[in-house]
Amino acid sequence: MQTDLSLEYAHPDELPPGHANEVRTPATLVEHFLREYSEPGDRVIDPFAGYGTTLTVADRLDREPYGIEYDADRVEYIEGQLETAEAVRHGDVLELEASWIPACDCCFTSPPFMWKDDERNPFENYGGESTYEAYLADIETAFTRLESVLHPDSAVIIDVANMKHEGEVVVTWDDDGDNDRDGNFGYGYDHSYCLVFRNRAE
Ligand SMILES: C[S@@+](CC[C@H](N)C(=O)[O-])C[C@H]1O[C@@H](n2cnc3c(N)ncnc32)[C@H](O)[C@@H]1O
Repeated sequence: MQTDLSLEYAHPDELPPGHANEVRTPATLVEHFLREYSEPGDRVIDPFAGYGTTLTVADRLDREPYGIEYDADRVEYIEGQLETAEAVRHGDVLELEASWIPACDCCFTSPPFMWKDDERNPFENYGGESTYEAYLADIETAFTRLESVLHPDSAVIIDVANMKHEGEVVVTWDDDGDNDRDGNFGYGYDHSYCLVFRNRAE
């Protein structure tokens, strides 16, 4: 497995007015993983479907798309993008049941993120209140429920933003062509994290 990717940050479609600056997963990223971890005809699920990037890429690659999305406007947007309206369900992944969706072969998803000191609830689109501990518990519930709609051995790819705080630097290496993509010392050595600490003031 390649441990670093350099992809174009682009979306094939424009979002409607009022949504233009919302966060979406680039289609290039979804396509890379669906090509690697699923086959034509497979069922692909995104339990945090958003504006449907996973579903539309899956559809284009001849996979059968399924999604769950909390936000009604986003569900409506996805329905306009796909011919199979039943592909997306308006609902809360924390209540996901096996009867909602046929068993799937692959999952690509990008969950809602939370800063550790945020007090809003990402699982209610930052509407209600939450804590970081409750958020982690909700993440666990969501992925436990997801398991009920996945075939054993399905690949689950989770795109997780690295919510960097001050003091963390990610280093990637320019490749001069001699270096294989696993890095000089093997798998995982193609990038580094530098953590910057400061001695406590007296
Ligand atoms: C990071 S976005 C996903 C973006 C998506 N990959 C795309 O390209 O549009 C996370 C999505 O999870 C949805 N979400 C938040 N809480 C949810 C819940 N409880 N159940 C289902 N979806 C939820 C949000 O509305 C948001 O659209």
